[in-house]
Amino acid sequence: MAHSALQSISQAFVENQHRSYGEARSMPGAFYADPQMLAFEKQHLFGSEWICVGRVEEIPQPGDFMTFDIVDEPVLLIRGEDHQVRALSNVCRHRGAIIAAGAGRVKNLICPYHHWAYDLTGRLRGAPHISERDDFDPKSCRLPQFQCEEWLGFLFVTLDPDAPALAPQLAGIEAMIKNYHMEEMKLRYLANEVWETNWKSLMENFMEGYHLSPLHRTTLHKVNPTNLCRHFPPGDKYFGYLAGFSPSLPRSENGHPDLTDEEVETCVMYAIPPGLAVGGAGDYSSFLCIQPEAVDRVRVKLGLIFFGETWQQPQVDRAVELFQDTMQEDKDVLVNLQRGQNSRFHEVGPLAPADFEGPIWDFYQYLGRMLGPTLSKLASANGS
Ligand code: FES
Ligand SMILES: [Fe+2]
Repeated sequence: MAHSALQSISQAFVENQHRSYGEARSMPGAFYADPQMLAFEKQHLFGSEWICVGRVEEIPQPGDFMTFDIVDEPVLLIRGEDHQVRALSNVCRHRGAIIAAGAGRVKNLICPYHHWAYDLTGRLRGAPHISERDDFDPKSCRLPQFQCEEWLGFLFVTLDPDAPALAPQLAGIEAMIKNYHMEEMKLRYLANEVWETNWKSLMENFMEGYHLSPLHRTTLHKVNPTNLCRHFPPGDKYFGYLAGFSPSLPRSENGHPDLTDEEVETCVMYAIPPGLAVGGAGDYSSFLCIQPEAVDRVRVKLGLIFFGETWQQPQVDRAVELFQDTMQEDKDVLVNLQRGQNSRFHEVGPLAPADFEGPIWDFYQYLGRMLGPTLSKLASANGS
C-alpha cells in the first residue's frame, strides 16, 4: 500500500528516535513539501511555541509599536507609558478591522474603520456614538493580550496562554553565550524578505556548517570555514554549533571585555526553534526570525546587531555587504533545494559528521518530540 505523506514523515520521526547519529539521514521530501504537514506545523509549533519577532531596540520609547502575524494571527507589540512591552491582538473589538499597520509611534491606537481608540495597554478609551448598554461595557473592553518575553534583547511572543516561561528553558544556551552580551548589542541592519523555500530548509541551512566552505567559497569560507565547525550538545529548546573564525583573520577588538580568547575566536550558531536562528559573535551578530507562509514560501526578518559604540558606518556597511552576499547564496541554493526535494527520484541521504550537520539532527529530534505523537495518530487516522 502506498504511504501517505504524513505517514512517511511520522515513520521517519519514529525511526529517528532509535537511530544513533552514525546512522542519521535526511528527512523525506514530503517533510518540506506537503501542505498538510505545514498546516500541522502552523497549529502545533507556531500557534503555541515562543516565536521570536524581533529586537527590543525596534520599539525603544513609550508608544513605539510594531506589527506582524504569528501564523495567520495579526499581533502588535507596543511599549506602554510604564516602559513595558505588551503583545496585543491587532484586531478591533468593534467589527474586527486590523488596527495598526507597519511600525511607528502613537499616543493611542486608533482603528482606521470607525475610530475606536485604545490606550497603549489595549484598553478601549473611546468608541464614537457607542454608550454603555446591557450587553456591552466599554470600560471592560480591551484587546486580548498575549504572553511576551524579552531574552538577550530578542522579543518573543506566544499565542498559548499556558506556555511555560521561556527564559528558564534557555538557561543552558544562555550560560554558553553570556559573555557575548547580546542584550547590549544594537540593531544596525534589518530587512524583511520572503524566500521561495520551505521554512525548515532555511532553519537547517543557517544551522549547519557543512555548506560554509563549498557554497560560500568566496564569501563566508574566508571567515568561518567548514573545518572549524564543532557541534555542541542540544537542549530541549535550543541547538547549534560553534563556528571558529579563521586564524588568518585579524582578531576583532570590538567585543565585550568579558569574552575569553576562545570566545573571541568563535561564533556561536544557535537556534531557538521553531523560528529564531542566531550567528552570535563578540563584535557583531546576525539573526533570522523565520515563519512559514506556504510550503515553499518563508517570511524572514534578517538583522545584524553590533556591540559597543566604536563602529563606524563603513565597517557596518562591510558587515552588511558580507551578510547580504552570503544570504543571497543561501537564498539561491534553497530555491534549488526546494525543487530537488520535490523530485520523485529524491531519496533520503546520509548526514555528514555531527560537527557539520549535527544541528540538523537536533532539529529533527525537536520536531519529532513536538509533533511526532500527534502526527502518528493523525497519519494512522488518515491512512485507515
Ligand atoms: S472595526 Fe474598528 S472601529 Fe469599527
Ligand atoms: Fe549559508
